[in-house]
This record gives sequence, structure tokens and C-alpha cells, in this order.
Amino acid sequence: MLIRRPSDIPSSEITPHDVYLRRRDFMTGAIALGAATMLPAGASAGPLQFVKSPLSTTDEPLTSLKDITTYNNFYEFGTDKDDPAQNARTLKTTPWTVKVDGLVGKPADYDLDDLIKSIPLEERIYRMRCVEGWSMVIPWIGVPLSAVLARIEPQSGAKFVSFETLVRPAEMPGQRGLFQPLPWPYVEGLRLDEAMHPLTILAVGLYGEPLPNQNGAPIRLVVPWKYGFKSIKSISRINLTDTQPVPSWQRANHQEYGFYSNVNPQVDHPRWSQATERRIGEGSGLFTKRRPTLMFNGYGEQVASLYSGLDLKANY
Ligand code: MTE
Repeated sequence: MLIRRPSDIPSSEITPHDVYLRRRDFMTGAIALGAATMLPAGASAGPLQFVKSPLSTTDEPLTSLKDITTYNNFYEFGTDKDDPAQNARTLKTTPWTVKVDGLVGKPADYDLDDLIKSIPLEERIYRMRCVEGWSMVIPWIGVPLSAVLARIEPQSGAKFVSFETLVRPAEMPGQRGLFQPLPWPYVEGLRLDEAMHPLTILAVGLYGEPLPNQNGAPIRLVVPWKYGFKSIKSISRINLTDTQPVPSWQRANHQEYGFYSNVNPQVDHPRWSQATERRIGEGSGLFTKRRPTLMFNGYGEQVASLYSGLDLKANY
């Protein structure tokens, strides 16, 4: 993997987001014409232009695009792993509005393009560890959440950021019918210092292309040291508050899911161990290889100081 410091990156390689968005429309047509296949080998194959972030912290083999886009959790589209890939195409992601409210200097209903305009896109290759015991390595394209927060100007009293996913039953079959697996909207939350941490991003793409709907288009959170469910998809609201938010999974079952949800092989889920994980794509059935799960998903060097003095068993 190519790792370069920001100072090594020529400004010509940094595409402001409004330019990328204009390119996106153009490239959608270009790809239809097969132009993408004409790119030189090794060039980023997709329509997004981005810099490779020095904060990519793994050079492990990437999980295949097929696995990343067909083995998903996105309960708004059903509870089976293949439901989102089948059902999420009905979600209309343009135009997209993100409501920003609460303890901020610049509350508004932002058009997504305006919210992230001119923040350079970065590629961050991160491990993702799901609470269910599997993991992937995903090349995200996104912007630091801290840059978006700076734009909306947290007030001094703000201590937490909460996020919500869209509620649109007409386009989200998992929000219709008798069986509702979770309370809607899907809600997640971070402490403000977790949200400001340089590893925390808002992703708009993966594998060099805009996010597929099943992965949380058009914008989703990625917090690589926490279990995957913290990485909320298709965000429609960002709210700053002085009160700890109650995430959907905690609301549904507070004995099993807490606010922090840091990857921690020493704290078991009440119904199963968290000590090992299965890397998607590495064999199945009898041949499944399990690897040890790393504290903070391997990002401890960067994030452990956020939790010094906190009892991680009590604050799971
Ligand atoms: N966001 C919303 N809105 N709804 C969901 O059901 N599932 C979460 C998280 N974000 C979920 C969500 C869970 S459990 C995981 S493991 C990750 O999304 C999966 O992300 P991926 O499908 O891109 O791998």
C-alpha cells in the first residue's frame, strides 16, 4: 500500500468535493460507455478523485468488492446479509439533505454537497470488525468527521454527537410491515472527542467509487476501533448535544449493547466470545480460519488514550 505524508501530495491530486460531485455525473456516463476500463493498470478505477491518507493503518489484503457489497447489515432493508444488496437500490440518494441541529453555531438543513464541499477526499483502508464475529478490510473514501464538525461549529456546551438514518418506509422495506427489528430512526452516538479523532471519517465511497446504497449511500460514518454497528449508514441528521445519546442497539437491548462498543477481545458479548474473528473471504465451513481480535481492533496506539481511567468492562 502506498503511504504518503500530506506534504508529499501535490495539490493537483486533491479534488475538492464539489469538483468531484460534478465529475460524478460525468463519470456515471463515462463508465456506462466503458471508459473506466481504459484507465492504466493501478490507477484508481473509479470516478472519485482522492488522496491516499497516511492514516490508512493496515496493509492487509483488501476484502473483495463483491463481499463488501453483498454481505451487509442494513436493517432498513431487511435482516438477512443479502437483503441490502437486493433491496437497497430503491433508496433515492440524490438530492440528499442532512439536518444539522442542536448545540452548533451553523444549524441548517444542508444539501450534502454543501456540507462537504471543498473538503479533500481521502482513501482510508480500515479493518471493520462486526460484533457478530466477522471482519473485513475496506478501502473507504471519505472526509474526516472533524472537518465537517469544524464547518458546523460545535458550541462550547456540546459533549456528544448523535446521528440518525433516514426514515422512508416507502423506499426502505425493513421499515414496513409487522416485524420491526429496531426502533427507527437508526440512531448512533459518539463522544465529541471520539468524533473529532482523526481516524473517524464520514465515508462517501469505497473502492474508488461512490458508496453503493447497501453500504450506506450517500454518506455514512466509519469509526474503525468500534464494532461495525456504530458506523451508521445513510445519515440524514447530525445533532450536537450535552446529553449522552441512546443508540438504537442499546435502546433495543441495553444488556447486550452499550454506548461505547469499542472492539475489545477481553469483554465478551453476553451470548458469545469476542476473542476471535472470521475474515470474510478466508474460507468457510470446516475450513474457516479464525484470527485473534485485537484490542480496539488494532487501533489502540491511536485511540487508547481517549479511554484512560475508564472501566471498559462497565462501559462496554
Ligand atoms: N446503519 C443503519 N442505518 N442500519 C443498520 O442496520 N447496521 C450496522 C452498520 N450501520 C446498520 C447501520 C452494522 S450491524 C454493521 S456491521 C455495519 O453497518 C455494516 O456495514 P457494511 O454493510 O458496509 O459492511
